[in-house]
Amino acid sequence: FSADKGNYRHFMEKEIREQPEVISHALANHVDFTTNRLRPSTLPFNFKDLDRIAISACGTAYLSGLVGKYWFERYARLPVDIDIASEFRYREMPISKKSAAFFISQSGETADTLASLRYCKAAGIPIGAIVNVRDSTIARESDVVLPILAGPEVGVASTKAFTCQLAVLASLAIRAGVERGFLNEEDEKRLIAELAEAPRLATDVLKLDEQINEVARDLSQVDHVLYLGRDTSYPLALEGALKLKEISYIHAEGYAAGELKHGPIALIDESMPVVVIAPHDRIFDKSVSNMQEVAARGGRIILITDEKGKNASATETAETIVLPEVPEIICPIIYALPVQMLAYYTAVHMGTDVDQPRNLAKSVTVE
Ligand code: G6P
Repeated sequence: FSADKGNYRHFMEKEIREQPEVISHALANHVDFTTNRLRPSTLPFNFKDLDRIAISACGTAYLSGLVGKYWFERYARLPVDIDIASEFRYREMPISKKSAAFFISQSGETADTLASLRYCKAAGIPIGAIVNVRDSTIARESDVVLPILAGPEVGVASTKAFTCQLAVLASLAIRAGVERGFLNEEDEKRLIAELAEAPRLATDVLKLDEQINEVARDLSQVDHVLYLGRDTSYPLALEGALKLKEISYIHAEGYAAGELKHGPIALIDESMPVVVIAPHDRIFDKSVSNMQEVAARGGRIILITDEKGKNASATETAETIVLPEVPEIICPIIYALPVQMLAYYTAVHMGTDVDQPRNLAKSVTVE
């Protein structure tokens, strides 16, 4: 992957479109798709010997770690402490001797993430780096490097690095589940076969660009947007809001849908678009209740779901973006794409400098 824009308007667009291919590289480093088994571990520990793990990162990388927490706890029953690195480094967290820490960073140079790494290193626990830049400081100071293989990412707002981080974290969570005895060989094969679907499904989602561009045209007219999601769609709601404000400068907030009643509902009126990220999963009905609360107050719902979710939503939406049906484990990988595309096209309609948004840096090497 060259750091050349080719025929694309922006690096961000190119990087969004590269995702099917780079996700498959990220996955293939950890799993063998001919057998649907994990490749041999390169980790200096076995997950069965751990009682918890710590994850720390900044920005979009932090949000991939937040998805990772759901996966490790769900598939491996392994508790995860996750923090924004600028908090982690100062909050004097007690470190379990039976733990390991993972630091997620596209650049591998983010100052706060590096400081968190050094805090854990001083505590003597094994350190893993989930990085894109392999010869970075964070990679060098770690015991094991898990490269995300996304290729150079130039757009300041991270896109393909996020989904590749997710691909690595999903593979790690499956490994943890197997090593800890919560996933048997059959589960391992099924989950890896599901991961293998990600590149194809991502390609299908990219074809929704025209519809998403139209939704973005409306979004570019507003001042505030609320994003809601539950479970692994909660970090995606945070990521959606982060992406939108970074590149379009529209004020956006991401919330766990269940928190709607505890604050953001006060903001809802006819002028407030609410992006609801809700695949038809175990708790879809709960998201429907939240949508009804929004609709009852005149909020304009933009629902990102699948066919089943569309049919079961029973709420009037301003727009419904219908994705293919996606296995649970890869939902956050696939649903990241429409979220990125919505922010991207909105920024294009606004005419902002998408690849170099004001006041932001690609790599934050000072505190
Ligand atoms: C900056 C970038 C973000 C990125 C964050 C963390 O804020 O603009 O896109 O997510 O830093 O960077 P890292 O290189 O550590 O992933």
